[in-house]
Amino acid sequence: MASASTAAAPVIARTLSAQAAPARADAVDPRAPVNLTLKINGHDHRLALDVRTTLLDALREHLGLTGAKKGCDHGQCGACTVLIDGRRMLSCLTLAASIQGRAVTTIEGIGQADGTLHPMQQAFIEHDALQCGYCTPGQILSAIGCVQEGHAGSDAAIREYMSGNLCRCGAYPNIVAAINQAKPAMRTAKKD
Ligand code: FES
Ligand code: FES
Repeated sequence: MASASTAAAPVIARTLSAQAAPARADAVDPRAPVNLTLKINGHDHRLALDVRTTLLDALREHLGLTGAKKGCDHGQCGACTVLIDGRRMLSCLTLAASIQGRAVTTIEGIGQADGTLHPMQQAFIEHDALQCGYCTPGQILSAIGCVQEGHAGSDAAIREYMSGNLCRCGAYPNIVAAINQAKPAMRTAKKD
């Protein structure tokens, strides 16, 4: 049977261990906010964020830009797609701190100041390429990227290069039709 002195030994050991490793004065708290400047839709935004904040959360929770949707938060659905320097990226897998100095475009930034819709937005409306609309901002940004990258040369190519954007409403045929309508109005990349 343990005596009172041996039973207390682990407690004493833990206490001594804690005392032996004081917090370093120069230790960096990983939760401490860092100052960032993000260029979103042509405007610079200064933010103080936890360095682990995703671009999606920075947009939605800190800048009020809720067009990019959080479908899965794991890189599987495409609902959070934005353009970074003209190329589509999943904002749920992108740390905000990693894209300083780069140009981010969200669905809020693709229309013109006078309210004229981007040709891809207009085509989605004309082809009824949505039902609930939850996936639509990501679909439209990805469709713009698909055309700009030169991957919209055929229906098969569009389906292949849009396959990262899921639509649980099944609007896929109409989305392909919308992209086919919009692409002549856009500056197309050279390789298809
Ligand atoms: S929310 Fe980013 S891929 Fe689903
Ligand atoms: S329109 Fe509903 S998920 Fe695509």
